Amino acid sequence: MSGPSLTSSITCQFGTAQSADVDLLVVPWFEGEDASAFDGLDRAASGEISRAWGAGEFAGRPYELFVTPLVDRAWKPRRVALIGAGQEAAFGPGLARRLATAAAQAGRTRRVGRLGIVIRPGQAAPSGDVDVAALVQSIAEGLTLGEFTGATYQTSAAQKAGDPPAFVIVVPPFTDTSPESPARLEGAAARGRVLGESSNLARGLANEPANTLTPREFSDRASRIALDGGASVEVLDEKQIEALGMGMLLGVARGSSEPPRLMVFRHDPPGVSSGPVLALVGKGITFDSGGISIKPAEGMEKMKGDMAGGAAVACAMRAIARLNAPVRVIGVVPATENMPGGRALKPGDILHSAEGKTVEVINTDAEGRLVLGDALWYARQQGATHLVDVATLTGGVVVALGKTTSAVFGTPDWWVDHVRRTGDRAGDRMWRMPLFEDYRDQLKSEIADMMNSGGRPASPITAATFLKEFTGGLPWAHIDIAGTAWADEAKPYMPKGPTGVAVRTLIELALSSDTWKR
Ligand code: BES
Ligand code: MN
Ligand code: ZN
Repeated sequence: MSGPSLTSSITCQFGTAQSADVDLLVVPWFEGEDASAFDGLDRAASGEISRAWGAGEFAGRPYELFVTPLVDRAWKPRRVALIGAGQEAAFGPGLARRLATAAAQAGRTRRVGRLGIVIRPGQAAPSGDVDVAALVQSIAEGLTLGEFTGATYQTSAAQKAGDPPAFVIVVPPFTDTSPESPARLEGAAARGRVLGESSNLARGLANEPANTLTPREFSDRASRIALDGGASVEVLDEKQIEALGMGMLLGVARGSSEPPRLMVFRHDPPGVSSGPVLALVGKGITFDSGGISIKPAEGMEKMKGDMAGGAAVACAMRAIARLNAPVRVIGVVPATENMPGGRALKPGDILHSAEGKTVEVINTDAEGRLVLGDALWYARQQGATHLVDVATLTGGVVVALGKTTSAVFGTPDWWVDHVRRTGDRAGDRMWRMPLFEDYRDQLKSEIADMMNSGGRPASPITAATFLKEFTGGLPWAHIDIAGTAWADEAKPYMPKGPTGVAVRTLIELALSSDTWKR
């Protein structure tokens, strides 16, 4: 099994930073704070902090790092790392998550055994209203995200990264916030740990090359991950897929000698037999060559990650079951390669969807919407009341929103807005794009109910418009993660490679089912 090793839990330590039982103590430091901001720390560092501050070596800008020994034996940590936390008024769980990731990565590079990070609530909310539990959860997520490494297949010892440190969240006694019960904060840390692990598992799957991660292998690994969390799993093979009449999924699979699979995950919490059923549907193309409408060679290797949406669904199901979300959830992941074999789909071919609608295939590279259309239909058959799909669907979304923001589409407004806001909280930024009726014209076919491609203009929107045909009028949100699933440039809080986008959003959606409107 590739991906990160799942290590120990994260411990919370309630007490002063001075007494923290860690090797490296990480202290978030706001811009404009001087050395007197943290009681006695500068003295324990024999004045190094005020010196660095005065010299402009460290100013508290986000992700700046300043490491110095603590020589005072009254302090338990051997070294302190100040990490820039920016403007105090702008600080919150989102930046805290990223700082924690940067700190965890730095701790690993420095071969730190025990790394502690100090909670500093900041002033983003009026004093007393800071949600310390949300802060603790996002820091636990960030620390865990910092454990991920994608160098799975490097063999030389010199290339091997050290083990990640053991993590301690240091919760000093707050004077200006409402008292938080230790149990509540420990629960938040444990929850953050699970969310971070699930994100890393999805990153491991997306990073896996297509010669190991075939649709069958993807199903096996994803099943093990979801089962480990306590979800139930069913994997349908090509015969069962055919019996269901899923002509679009089968059509895409025709070009490959690897058979397709349909993964179905279920979380049925005890005692919840009525009420909503959330369906999470993820695109699981284990390699997208484009098929007969083949892609150019440049960058085609990235298309091993065209199953990132499916990985997000499977790994979210693990956490949803593990954390026992109070709502029924079903995950559906259609998995296949998109290849140009001798029996492959050809432009002009007609496909029959399970829903009954016919589709003229204009471009075999518009395969994601085909497999998702049948999967959305299947989710409805299984009793879904609310739909969310996640897919690396279009190159156009990268042009529109770049690498930082996913597009979200859907209907009705309250459901799409709810998904978007949940994403904000989870650290998966999204921006809404429209689904005006006029765009449907671009999919009109002379011979069938619709075409699978509307051409280049507004391609993310026409792709979403195609999916809408299979949602049966249910509340539905579609998240296009083509730009956000893979980082091309390293950031202090995110190495190059798979990002695990949408995993935490899907989990938080299920956990917060009591806040859905009707
Ligand atoms: N998997 C691709 C979309 C993609 C592009 C994902 C870049 C990640 C990075 C998808 O299957 C695709 O090929 N879409 C086409 C659709 C077009 C042919 C209508 C696209 O967007 O170019
Ligand atoms: Mn494609
Ligand atoms: Zn694709």
